[in-house]
Parts: sequence; C-alpha cells; structure tokens
Amino acid sequence: MRTTRLRLIGALAAVLVAATVPAAQAHDGRPPTLADLAERHGRYFGSATDNPELVDEPYTALLGSEFDQITPGNGMKWYATEPQQGVFDFTKGDEIVALARADHQKVRGHTLVWHSQLPGWLTGREWTATELRAVLKKHIQTEVRHYRGRIYAWDVVNEAFNEDGTYRETVFYKTLGPGYIADALRWAHQADPKARLYLNDYNVEATGPKSDAYYALAKELRAQGVPLHGFGLQTHLALQYGYPATLEDNLRRFARLGLDTALTEVDVRMQLPVTEEKLAQQADWYRDMTEACLAVRRCVGITVWDYTDKYSWIPAFFPGEGAALPWDEELRPKPAYFALREALR
Ligand code: XIL
Repeated sequence: MRTTRLRLIGALAAVLVAATVPAAQAHDGRPPTLADLAERHGRYFGSATDNPELVDEPYTALLGSEFDQITPGNGMKWYATEPQQGVFDFTKGDEIVALARADHQKVRGHTLVWHSQLPGWLTGREWTATELRAVLKKHIQTEVRHYRGRIYAWDVVNEAFNEDGTYRETVFYKTLGPGYIADALRWAHQADPKARLYLNDYNVEATGPKSDAYYALAKELRAQGVPLHGFGLQTHLALQYGYPATLEDNLRRFARLGLDTALTEVDVRMQLPVTEEKLAQQADWYRDMTEACLAVRRCVGITVWDYTDKYSWIPAFFPGEGAALPWDEELRPKPAYFALREALR
C-alpha cells in the first residue's frame, strides 16, 4: 500500500517534471536567459555596453550569456569614429562587433547623425550647406560601409525633434533643412542595403506631440519611398514622471505604417534612495513595457541601456537619480529582472 502510494507520487512527480522542465530550462539544462525567452516570441533581448567595461570579467560573462543583441553605448558615435575630419577610427566599434560575433549577438549601430557627442572640428566652425552635406554623406557612408553586413539595424538619425514636435535646431537642420533626414537614410541604405534603418528618440513612448511628429514624418518618408524601416523608442523612463500608458497603441500605429519598432535604450530611473516600493514599481514598468512590445508583432526587440547599475549613465546625467537597470551594482538581479522573465514567459 505504502509503496504503491509512493510509486504513484513518484510517477506524478515525473510527469510534473517532464511538463515543466522543457519550458523552464534550455537544452543544456541551464535556466533560459532573457534572450532565450525573447527568442521564443521571435524577439531579441539586448543590452548596451561600452568599451571601458569590457575588462570586467563577471560583467562580460553575463553580457555574453543573457543577451542576444548588443549596442555600443558610445563607440560608434561621431566623436569616436571621425575624431578628425576625414580620419576614421573604428577600433572601439570593432571591439564590440567582434565580441558580439563571438557571442552570436546582433548589433544595433548607434548612431550616425546626432547633435550630441560630435567632434570639435565639426562643431567649432561654420559650414555652408554644400560643405556640410558632403561631410555628412562621407561620415555616414564610410561608417556604414565599414560595418556592412555586420550591423542588424542602424539608428541613422537620433533625437531629431523637440518635445513640442518641432524640428530640433541642430547644425544639420539649420544648415541643410529637414531634408537631411531623408538624405541620411538614402546614403545609409546605399552603403548597406540590408541594414534596417531607424529614427530613434526619447520621450516618444506615449502618443503626444513628439511621437506624433515622428508618425507624420515616417508616413511622409514611406510615401516618398525613402528607406526607413523602423522607429526606435529609447524608453528612458523615470518613476517620478509616470508610465507611458499609451505605449502599446503607439507601437501599433507605427506598425500599421509598415515599420518595425524597438525599445532601444531602456532604463527606469528613480530618485534615490532606493526603496522596496520603488523597486517593485520599477519591476511593474519593466513588465508592462515588455508586454506592450510582445503585444505588437512589429515590435522586434528590447535593449536595456546597459544591464547593471554599475555601468548606468543615469547617476552622472541625472544627479540624485539612479538604480535604473534590472541588475544592481553587484550584478545581482533586481525585482525588475524577475518581472522581465515573467513577462517573457
Ligand atoms: C549616453 C551614454 O550612455 C553615456 O556614456 C554618454 O556619456 C552620453 O550618452 N540617448 C542616447 C544615447 O541616444 O546615446 C545616450 O548615451 C543616452 C541618451
């Protein structure tokens, strides 16, 4: 009697294990990573990284195992890649692309045209439209050609609009007019016809004047046959400003234009000190944004703007704020990490 019951329990346990193990573990018996979970939905799950961090072995181990996409946080920006006019230096970007290849990760190229982190030779003088057009074309085509076939998607133009939906008065806009965006996309497409080309910005997660401006521009560019393939929502959120509740609707309207979308630079910062309540709210936001992306077929993936608070850009840029990422400064997973896993399951 007793042995039968034990056998029955044993059999039941075996059935339970058989039912749960394949879902909970990858082929090699290790629990699935965020990338494994995302892949089951046809999405990637990525992280930004930066060259100085690559000497940190525990850090690179997690970077290489948990994610299937990486974005160089700085290494492909203009100041890094063309420090003097016409003198190109791809060592930083190359290092990250090589690491990504070794770890079988896609790379998002970031970024070709942006008003920030430009080299001094570009910002330190006046340009005629003819001169700047040539400078811009050469920069884009040299960089995109260098990485041809190795970049999944490029953030071609970054942060082109103001909060009210007017064009940001960058050197490119002021000198070349709004057509610089279509030109940049065309030049990038010539240099690597297979790369997915994106516009990318922050504070565009909810519908509103800024994301409406992108929607209108994207519609116009698509109608004109300009090679635009995606819209990147940086998703630098802050607990004190509220969650962008219209995110899913917003992703959906860009999908209807025939565009991919991606959450490209995710972090959820908070005013310090950290409390359990704030970490719980942060976890909810990571879960909600992941569910929003999974609900919209053309939302192709999510990238956190580095994965550990140890290397987050937030404390340096938003004094008094931080703790924005799913792993803490000791590389320990936070509630946000477990929320991501739940959302992806
Ligand atoms: C940040 C980097 O993470 C920092 O290391 C750097 O000092 C400044 O830029 N939007 C973007 C990113 O598109 O390129 C920015 O990255 C963060 C905001």
